[in-house]
Amino acid sequence: MIFLSGRIPADFVDEVRQANDIVQVISEYVPLKKSGRNFVGLCPFHPEKTPSFTVSPEKQIFYCFGCHEGGDVFSFLMKREGLSFWDALTSLARRVGLEVPATPGRDGRSRWQERAYEINAAARDFFHNYLRQPAGQAGREYFFRRELTEEDLEKFYLGFAPAAWDELTRYMTKKGFREDELVRVGLAVAGKKGSCYDRFRNRVIFPITNHRGQVAGFGGRVLDDSLPKYLNSPESDIFNKGQLLYGLSLAARDIRQKDEVILVEGYMDVIRAHKHGFTNTVAPLGTALTREQVRLITRYTYNVVMAFDADTAGQAATLRGLDLLQEAGCRVRVVTVPAGKDPDEFLQKEGGEAFARLLQQAEPLLHYRIRQAGQGITPVTVEDKLKILHRVLPALVMLESEIQLSEAIYTAADLIGLTPEAVRSEVEKFLQNKRKRWIVRDNLAQTRNNRIMPDLYPTGAIGEKKKPAGQPAGGRQKAERELLTLLLNYPDYLPQTLSRLEAYPFTDPLAAKLWEELRKDTTGENLVERLVDHFRADEEILQFISRSAMTPVEEKKAPVLWRGYVERLLSEERKARLAQLLQEIKAAEQAGNWEKMQELLLQYRTLLQQERSGEN
Ligand code: CTP
Ligand code: MN
Repeated sequence: MIFLSGRIPADFVDEVRQANDIVQVISEYVPLKKSGRNFVGLCPFHPEKTPSFTVSPEKQIFYCFGCHEGGDVFSFLMKREGLSFWDALTSLARRVGLEVPATPGRDGRSRWQERAYEINAAARDFFHNYLRQPAGQAGREYFFRRELTEEDLEKFYLGFAPAAWDELTRYMTKKGFREDELVRVGLAVAGKKGSCYDRFRNRVIFPITNHRGQVAGFGGRVLDDSLPKYLNSPESDIFNKGQLLYGLSLAARDIRQKDEVILVEGYMDVIRAHKHGFTNTVAPLGTALTREQVRLITRYTYNVVMAFDADTAGQAATLRGLDLLQEAGCRVRVVTVPAGKDPDEFLQKEGGEAFARLLQQAEPLLHYRIRQAGQGITPVTVEDKLKILHRVLPALVMLESEIQLSEAIYTAADLIGLTPEAVRSEVEKFLQNKRKRWIVRDNLAQTRNNRIMPDLYPTGAIGEKKKPAGQPAGGRQKAERELLTLLLNYPDYLPQTLSRLEAYPFTDPLAAKLWEELRKDTTGENLVERLVDHFRADEEILQFISRSAMTPVEEKKAPVLWRGYVERLLSEERKARLAQLLQEIKAAEQAGNWEKMQELLLQYRTLLQQERSGEN
């Protein structure tokens, strides 16, 4: 797959790459320690306690031996920040003060997205400025009634949508945006007779940004108790509720710094929390957490505190969201805000210190689950207790390590009032019944309200590690890949490999693709860089290249290994060809085609001779 099209100048890519040392860039995200020729650290892409994330300053490549993510400095930023290649390039160019050449030809979709963000930014400014106008007084008063200050209005860019039919639409069209564009981003609604009117009217406005701070959409709240309370932008290619977290662009830095995120449920909860100094707070947009949101969170931290109001606390969708976090390796703790309040009301009434105490007392997810499971049951008999236990078993067995599991067993036993032995034996029963485990898993998958994102844990299953790209099925395929690993380490061998394997058909699909590209330039100059550029969008090959580059082959052994691989491959091919000839000979015999048979036999004998003497 060719990712880097001619539209992005390759020279510029090289320039940016050379100016951004991968070790320095990655160090800004992950503390790295020198280890031999490489640097190692805790992998930012999967939870781990001992470092398997490796960065090579020589090859300017990273690779994680745990989760197998790999690539160059661009890949790192793309994965870590969720950027497109172009955005990663731009960001790294800016980092070193390089000027980005004029916008390259981008596809229609991303050009539209850019335009959509531009439209939303203009609308945000309109709504925000409207707060300052006499007609916007109602909005200002609303916010002040809720004890927000000028500062809060600025920080969150809050606004007001006029109580009129088309003020925004008229303003925007005057600014040069077309009506159909306004409809497409969801700011206007197409009416009958071809005219259109504003979607948001007489509502206070909460602009919703993505993690990069671009305005993806809006939430508009009524000023009174009428319904619907909130109206949001419609789903579109830039506004996807399941992929956004309100407040993230403002909170991102603090989440990373505090290595913890506070999750709340509503816009006002986020604003109030920030106001009281909890600047690592974000919220989903009125829906249960999705895999995408979990993935977004784990880019910044693996520690999550969830602060619920009592009404949502026990809901199945809420619990599922928490499970997704735990599956992703997060340490999840839960706070239920007392007395039927939400965090906004609690903070307003009780203040920041009380909220901080609440957070400190947050209970681990397991405790929380057990309490939830026990609701409505007064555990008198052993049956009652087992019923509670069975409700939490699926969550229990998901725990990654034996230590966590043991601890959880004691906790569960204690909380439910069973002996640890009884709990342990139930866990074991459950685990033995593997099929049951898969059923649980499937149910989870089906009830997710969002697309299943297999890349969270790329194999889909928990606790099962992604198979590295470097493990081919058969011996021949394995040898093909090993030869390529050698070539990636010693490009000097390229010309002689090409002359021996000119006609050799690679059978492993990954090896075949890679070889196709390798043979194009036998000088081996900037080999790894060139290949990473070429295969940037092909995760599997990218992993393979990174892994190979990180798997040093001893120089002394290289010639022997090289010879071994080449002979092996040629021999495998001869054997395959011999088997095939044998089939053809049989067929010719059956058909009575003696002439053909003679010819095939001759070929067979020559090839067999070669194979026996081990020559080419
Ligand atoms: N929400 C929504 N549409 C609705 C109701 C709620 O999108 N009709 C989302 C909003 O993101 C809202 C969140 O769900 O912030 C939580 O809803 P709720 O608790 O009802 O509102 P609050 O955030 O508490 O709002 P307020 O304090 O202004 O009443
Ligand atoms: Mn509220």
